[in-house]
This record gives sequence, structure tokens and C-alpha cells, in this order.
Amino acid sequence: MYATEIKTQPQEEDQLFRLLRQLDLTPEASQRVIASALGISLGRLNALLRVTADKGFIKIGERNSTDKRQRVSYEITLRGAAEKVRLTDQFLTRKFAEYDALHAELTGATSGLEPFKHRTKLMQNNLAPISELYVSYESAQKLKLEAAELTSLDMSPRQICDLELLMNGGFNPLKGFMSEEDYDGVVENMRLADGALWPMPITLDVSEDFAQAIELGQDIALRDQEGVILGTMTVTDRWEPNKSNEAIKVFGADDDAHPAVNYLHNQAGKIYLGGPVTGIQQPVHYDFRGRRDTPNELRAYFRKMGWRKVVAFQTRNPLHRAHQELTFRAAKEAQANLLIHPVVGMTKPGDVDHFTRVRCYEAVLDKYPSSTTSMSLLNLAMRMAGPREAVWHGLIRANHGCTHFIVGRDHAGPGKNSQGEDFYGPYDAQDLYRANQSEIGCEMVDFKHMVWVAERAQYEAIDEIKDKDEVTILNISGTELRRRLSEGLEIPEWFSFPEVVKELRRTKPPRSKQGFTVFFTGFSGSGKSTIANALMVKLMEMGGRPVTLLDGDIVRKNLSSELGFSKEHRDLNIRRIGYVASEITKNGGIAICAPIAPYATTRRAVREDVEDFGAFVEIHVATSIEECEKRDRKGLYKLAREGKIKEFTGISDPYDVPANPELSVETENVEVDNCAHQVLLKLESMGLIAAQ
Ligand code: PPS
Repeated sequence: MYATEIKTQPQEEDQLFRLLRQLDLTPEASQRVIASALGISLGRLNALLRVTADKGFIKIGERNSTDKRQRVSYEITLRGAAEKVRLTDQFLTRKFAEYDALHAELTGATSGLEPFKHRTKLMQNNLAPISELYVSYESAQKLKLEAAELTSLDMSPRQICDLELLMNGGFNPLKGFMSEEDYDGVVENMRLADGALWPMPITLDVSEDFAQAIELGQDIALRDQEGVILGTMTVTDRWEPNKSNEAIKVFGADDDAHPAVNYLHNQAGKIYLGGPVTGIQQPVHYDFRGRRDTPNELRAYFRKMGWRKVVAFQTRNPLHRAHQELTFRAAKEAQANLLIHPVVGMTKPGDVDHFTRVRCYEAVLDKYPSSTTSMSLLNLAMRMAGPREAVWHGLIRANHGCTHFIVGRDHAGPGKNSQGEDFYGPYDAQDLYRANQSEIGCEMVDFKHMVWVAERAQYEAIDEIKDKDEVTILNISGTELRRRLSEGLEIPEWFSFPEVVKELRRTKPPRSKQGFTVFFTGFSGSGKSTIANALMVKLMEMGGRPVTLLDGDIVRKNLSSELGFSKEHRDLNIRRIGYVASEITKNGGIAICAPIAPYATTRRAVREDVEDFGAFVEIHVATSIEECEKRDRKGLYKLAREGKIKEFTGISDPYDVPANPELSVETENVEVDNCAHQVLLKLESMGLIAAQ
């Protein structure tokens, strides 16, 4: 049975809470010490210990001690730890109410303090500690040993981000990964089962095999990618979600062009598990440790600094002068201090990496008046869900002790859909936020679009410029900035700070000096390898960057010799090629890949891996299956027709024709040299090779 379902009377709960707290604080104490700390007799303590053990909250064991009274040991179980977290919340809530009543009796007015459960009201208790799901250090040491015996889930990077914010209170009031009931409410109308506002499903997706091996009520260990146990979860719910419905309701369309929908369909497991989480330890971060804060650490910082109002700025991009100006104005407008709160967990594929961004932010911090502004890194996995995401971001900032939140044009926008249109209207996020503001507990400061007015040499909000027709208004869009960086063009001083531009140029040299991947795809015998070889030689002749050819046959010999041609094996093969290509690209080389790669989703996954570091150029070698069969250079088509080779692409296995390749080449009646030349021209037009 799941711990929180156990019904106990308030007084008993009180004693249970005190007992669990005492055992947590002084696990080695004798019965006499525990009884006196609880203010009860030894007899009553014994009865209480028995009941608590029966409910599975503690384990009674033996220990070696010469003192007879110390021979019994008590250990809080995982279930007991989760119950203690719940009872702590409940206890604090009641104490608040008692204090309030006393205050009213003495002064005739309420204290104005409210249980932290209601802290989402504007300006209330934003500085008071928030509840976390962690157990004490001593319990964590014990639980870790216990949890080592449990069935383990090796979490994905996104799940680890979610877990961190669940455990440290960033996702308060969630106490674990969502139950089916909470999930349904959130998907359908942005509400948890108890009616609280929450716009984003926080779910633990797993494979069917993993889900089948779990029994409801079972505890599982949640591990990071190195195998470290971060927490445990009591599985109360298991269900197969309707992912298309989730995509439509939460992200606005069942369209794989949306990064979160793509994740949902192509990366997330088929089954969701839900249940309360017990926190053992925070995920370890080796980078920028001093800049990472839990909600309670930030609240403590604001308390210490006497910051009563704090406006948070969410960002996944480097800050330039316009951002500095608008954040500064927002803080002035709200008469608040400013928290630059960038996301360093997971952002949109293709974004500037967080290492570079944090160095840029640090440079910009000096531009604010001292002691007015601070910066903290948020390990959130963004979903790019526009309006819903804005509401979610607001709730998260309220949990981090902020009172105001800047929401801009197209907040957390995912880019264009597969029809080339925007997923959301530019001000949808502001509208949804405004409609829910009172419940979010963080007042919206809407983003002013700042532009440079050349004559006055200053930034001004576009809607406040009265003499628009008489002045020169300048602005550089994100796309234009990327173009200038990739082509090594000038970035004017009015646009950004020299320190920021220098950082960006260091990590993003012009495209002609970056690594990239050319990915040929097509039927067996279509001519991929031949063109790839010709291209390699031409690129080597030009010099400048190392070139590596990952041909289908070479890879199968050296990287994937144990694999066959099932969908699963082909995917594995292509993901391996993608991994090597992304490493080559990251390190400034040119990777030429030439596998069949028949599945569009796998090609897309490889594209995403590579585009984190450089360009991905997909080339469809569009030789028809009839022509390939006619050529039958390796005699494989004949064998495939005779049924001697199974699962043969184009004959007895599928091939998804690329919908939007960077280039499609015909090989029938065209020289190989000409095909390779077409690729070179494409690379040149993309700025990847400098014109000769
Ligand atoms: S995949 O699907 O991308 O993993 O395939 P790939 O690794 O590129 O295939 C490499 C070569 O394997 C030969 N071969 C087959 N191809 C397709 N289907 C089946 N069943 C099969 N069995 C063997 C084929 O010659 C591929 O080489 P290329 O260079 O494409 O002709």
C-alpha cells in the first residue's frame, strides 16, 4: 500500500511525525532518550514503534551493544521517509494556522502569514523555506544502501532535470512523477487532480519491458547516467498515455516539427509510471557550481540581501544590449531587484551551448548597477511549449522566491511547424499568463520590444517611440546575428557588448572554419559510396579540415559487425554513425556518411545530434530502385528477389524518401564527378567551404 493512503488520526499522526523526525535526527538514540524527546512513556513508545513498523515506515533490527537498552535498532524505510515528508508539510500547515489564531486573539488581526501551501499568492512567503523531497543526510546514507537492492531506472538527461526540480521544490506542489489522474487533469485543463494550476506533464516514461517488470506499490531506484542513486519512487500508477492527445492539448499540434512532440513520439518510452519520490541526493554538477541554486538557496539569498521583490528573467540565449536594457527597465518598473535566471538544463536543439552562454552572462552582469542584480542557473529541461511553458516558468520562479516574471513576445517558442507556420501567436503566452496570474503567484512584467534609435544613441521600447518616421530604428534579429557570426561579419557595438561577441566568436567560428557532416542516404547500389569517395578526395584536395568517410560497408565492418538488418539493428547502426559524425563535427572535422539509413526518424535524430555542433547536410542519392536493381553491382538484388537475403531495402524492407534533404542528386546518366561537384556547390552556398 502506498504510504500516504494510510489514514491515521491527527494526534496519532502528530506522534508518528515526531517519532520519524526523532529517528531521522538521532538514529542511534536509546529508547529512553527517544521517549523523553517525544514526552511519552517507554510503554507508549514501544506500542508506537510496533504500529509504525507494521505500517512499513520503520524496520526494527538488532545491533551489537554492551548496553542492553541499546540493542534494538530502528531504521526509517523508504516508505517512512516519504511519509515523513508528507507529515512535515501537514505539521507546518497546522502550526501556521495555530499561530495565526493566536495572533488574531492577541491583536485582533490575522498575522498575514499563510501556510506555505498557499505561498503562490503574490508576495506572500516568497522568502520562507519551501518544502523539498530530500531526507536528512543520515537517512540518505541508509536509504542509498537499501535502494541499491531495488529495481533501477537509468534516467534520461531530461528525466534527471525533472527529478532535480521535483526534489528541490522547484516543481512544488508536485511530490513525485505524476499519477494518471494528475496527468489527465494537466493535459486536459492544466489542473492537478486537487485543482491546483499546473500546465506541464511531468511524467516518468519507460519502455514496455521495464514497465511490465514492475508491480504497483513497488519502490524503484532512480539513477543518473553514471549509475548514482538520486532518489526512489514508489510506483502507484502505470499507464499507456495517448501521446497524440498529449501533443495536441499540451503543445498545440501533433507535429514532429515541435521538439517536445518529436521527443514524445520518438524518444520517450511508451509507458508512464507515476508515484511519490523520496530524494536522496542532488544530481552532481561539476560546472559553475557556485552559480546553481535550489529554490531554498535562492530564497535564503533574497532574505539575506533584504530583496522583497524580485523580477526573474528567463533566457536560453546570450544576452545582448537590448536584453540588458529591458531587464533593467523591468526591474525599475516593478521596483524590484533582478534575477537573471537562464536555463542550463535542456533548451531548443541548436541553441548556443550553456558553457558559452554562462560566460556571456557573467560579462553582462557587470553592466548592471552593483548589488541590484544576481544570476542563478536553472537546470530545467524546457519543452518549448509557448503559452503553457510561460505559465510553468512562472510557477517555477514563484517557487524560487521571485515575485515578478518577464514574459516576452513568443515566449519559449518552438519555431515553425511542418507547414512553415508559427505554432503559437506571438502574444499567446502573455495572454495565458495574464489569465492565470493570480494563481501563479508571480506577477507578469510584459516584455517591451527594445530597438536602437540611432539619432539618440539609445534603446527605446518600440511602442513608446513617438517620432518613428523621423528617426533611424535599428535591430538585429537572432537569425541575422547567427548569419553574421557564421560568415564572420561585423557585429556593431550598439547591438552587443564586445566581451559577449568575443565569447560567441570563440565558440562559433565562421561556418567555413566549423566542422560539418555530409549525410548521404539512398538504396543499396544507388551510388552513395562512389559519390562520397569522390567528394572526400575533392575536400582533401582543398585542405584545411580533416575529412573522415563513414561508408555503410566500412561502418558495418568496423563499428557494427554484430548487427543485422532489422529495424532495431539498422537504427543502432545509424545512431552509432551519428555519434561518431557529431564528435568529428564538434572537433572541427568533416564527416562524410554513406549508409542506406532508411528511416526518417532516425535520420532526424542524427541530424539533431550533429546540429548541436555544426551543419548537417542531408543528400538524397535518388537513384530509383529499378535502376539499382538493374545495376545490381554486388549481386544482392538477385539474392533478395530469390528470398535468399531477407529484409532487403526497397525489395522487402521499407525506405522513407527524405522529405526535405539539403540536396537530392540524380545519378542516372550523370557522371560521378558531376554529382560530387553538385555537393561541393551546395556546401559552398551554405558557407561551409570558402569560395575558391
Ligand atoms: S542501414 O540500413 O543503413 O543500416 O544499412 P547499411 O549499413 O548502409 O547497409 C550496408 C550494406 O549492407 C548490404 N546489405 C543490405 N542492404 C540492405 N538491406 C539488406 N537486407 C542488406 N543486407 C546486406 C548492402 O550492400 C549495403 O551496402 P550499400 O553500400 O548500401 O550497397
